Amino acid sequence: MSAPLAYRAGVLQLDGTPLAPLAAEHGTPLYVYAAGEMRRRLSRLEAAFAPTRPLFCYALKANPTLAVVATLARAGAGADVVSGGELARARAAGVAPDRIVFAGVGKSRDEIEQGLAAGILQFNVESLEELRLVDAVAAERGVTAPVALRLNPDVAATTHDKIATGRRHDKFGIGAERLGEVLALVRGLDHVRVVGLHCHIGSQIAVVEDFERAYRRMVELYRFVRGEGLPLERLNLGGGFGIRYADERELDVEAFAAMARGVTAELGCGLVFEPGRFLVAAAGVLLSRILLVKSGSDGRRFVVLDAGMNTLLRPALYGAVHPVHPLRHAADDAVDVVDVVGPICESGDVFVRDVPLARARAGELVAFANAGAYGAVMASDYNSRGRAGEILVEGGRSAVVKPPRPPAALFADEAVPTWLEPAPTAGS
Ligand SMILES: Cc1ncc(COP(=O)(O)O)c(C=O)c1O
Repeated sequence: MSAPLAYRAGVLQLDGTPLAPLAAEHGTPLYVYAAGEMRRRLSRLEAAFAPTRPLFCYALKANPTLAVVATLARAGAGADVVSGGELARARAAGVAPDRIVFAGVGKSRDEIEQGLAAGILQFNVESLEELRLVDAVAAERGVTAPVALRLNPDVAATTHDKIATGRRHDKFGIGAERLGEVLALVRGLDHVRVVGLHCHIGSQIAVVEDFERAYRRMVELYRFVRGEGLPLERLNLGGGFGIRYADERELDVEAFAAMARGVTAELGCGLVFEPGRFLVAAAGVLLSRILLVKSGSDGRRFVVLDAGMNTLLRPALYGAVHPVHPLRHAADDAVDVVDVVGPICESGDVFVRDVPLARARAGELVAFANAGAYGAVMASDYNSRGRAGEILVEGGRSAVVKPPRPPAALFADEAVPTWLEPAPTAGS
């Protein structure tokens, strides 16, 4: 079982907080996050890089809940945002503007204005078109925008196809072969200042050598751009640090840090990283209740939960596996081999197949591990089942940091036009 989840006297706890009472009080499905684990993960990164002190900008996309962002911000993290909405969240959670980087392949004029008004550290710019737009918006405001050029290092990282971002054919970044053109453009723009280079080759990567290939390429490109006379200050090397969900191995953070420090040392520049999943995945669990256990026609037993792909999409979207544990467990509990599924009307709404599960009975509670990243934030209204609440725990205390949304709340602000034909009445 992955820390910080552990049984004590047969009761599953997250970082010392028993989970069953939270489910009883707040209902299920329910996300629970441990603040202490997030801080420990950040400290581990900082320790691995010491005495170098990179800026770790937490990638809000992994989990933008204010209390989560605030936990990391108060522990010293900056923020990596990809929209005006995330920028607003980062600010609302207390992240200082000069610790915010703004990435994303498509930023609107409004979003660029918001970044300039806030005074963020840098825009990670992904195309020549965007460079011109940032320059134009900055010119209207009479300011100069700090930008880092996101370059595509053409590295195929060992990860799921849908979360690899650093290959030539991916939509992200500017191809290195266009660097000459970019520099010519930059020289003609008066309202952008190129302060750094950026790359991000994908997510859930555990192979240090994948990062190394990309980082070596970025160091070459950095030297080239600096040699062209641009006074670069920092190299932003993205996120993507892989964790262990089930059988995978976690990125060896210490080996990774030694590599990254070694490869970049000669530049003598500042370093920025954008970890998301690594900081929050293991800090979170999803609690769910077993609605019923259904016998399939080929002898299968389907454990049907009140959480589904509308609550935690990763298994349906990426074939991801989140270990599932009963909230109470005794040594003499019967263990059945079951398929754990959601209630949604899609055959793909399956969490895991052929898994041994104790107490697989209607009414029992289970927890999915490692659900703190790309969990609640990817939830949807599909099948109108409402939204799970979110709880933050620490040292025996707990707080609702996002209330559950009952099904009726999902349509409370919708409207039916008055000009629609009235419904047929009985007998018409
Ligand atoms: C530009 C950028 N930075 C950081 C991240 C965070 O990735 P992860 O959560 O894997 O660390 C992402 C996610 O895809 C990203 O696109």
